[in-house]
Amino acid sequence: MPEQAVKLGPRLAAVAAHVPHGARLGDIGTDHALLPIYLVLRGVIPSAIGTDIRRGPLAAGRRNVARQGLSGRIALRQGDGLAPLRGGEAEAVTIAGMGGGLMLEILDPKREALAGARTLILQPQGGASGLRRALLARNWRLAAEELTEEKERIYTVMRWERGAATDQPGASAPVAAGGADADRRRFPEVWAEYGPLLPAAGGPLFRRVLQAETGRMSRAAAALESATGAVARVLLDELRRRLKIWEEMESWLYPSD
Ligand SMILES: C[S@@+](CC[C@H](N)C(=O)[O-])C[C@H]1O[C@@H](n2cnc3c(N)ncnc32)[C@H](O)[C@@H]1O
Repeated sequence: MPEQAVKLGPRLAAVAAHVPHGARLGDIGTDHALLPIYLVLRGVIPSAIGTDIRRGPLAAGRRNVARQGLSGRIALRQGDGLAPLRGGEAEAVTIAGMGGGLMLEILDPKREALAGARTLILQPQGGASGLRRALLARNWRLAAEELTEEKERIYTVMRWERGAATDQPGASAPVAAGGADADRRRFPEVWAEYGPLLPAAGGPLFRRVLQAETGRMSRAAAALESATGAVARVLLDELRRRLKIWEEMESWLYPSD
């Protein structure tokens, strides 16, 4: 007997919103298993497999699944990343709340379970730019990316589909105020860091991401101001160069303020 409807915070709700209807889901690092429980209770997916490397979270997940009467539809397996999944068991894979580097290890192209996956929905805690670059190089296509806020922290959620780099949306789409190709030439480092979709979409949360980065760079530059060594001067020049680009990008993307 289902106990009650499960409510997700904005971060996991953004992940859930990208899960294709009817997909066989693998939720890696499922922990409390709230994501698969929510998706099955809402009828988005018929069933799911959750994995977690640690026994404790999985036990909590099992209790939550049982409480909702879903033990027959959500299987929880202990193990590293995709290892507990057999090939073809997951058409869509969600990984939320881990660093981008760990996600890349989990998404090792040699993994049999990855071969059957058509969609990846990823919410990295950090290392997003390295994750984007590596998955684009592995011929995944970034179909959607959005920022969401929970408890004053901004998270990015990406949906990846199998595809060729030439199909990549945002690769030449127009951005907020002008032609994207010209803008990418003007701000290539910003595009390399966040692109291709987030800078093209703009929005208030992306502005805060840019501002957080300029804040970090300004503080680092201030700390280096009094240093006299040659290495410190080189670092300071580089920081100032990047800071100028980030500030120009912000005033170009948000011209009215
Ligand atoms: C911060 S929690 C995130 C839980 C949930 N996905 C969320 O976003 O709310 C990360 C979970 O990933 C698990 N984990 C870490 N490394 C893992 C790995 N290599 N394979 C599977 N699970 C892993 C941890 O045990 C932990 O339960």
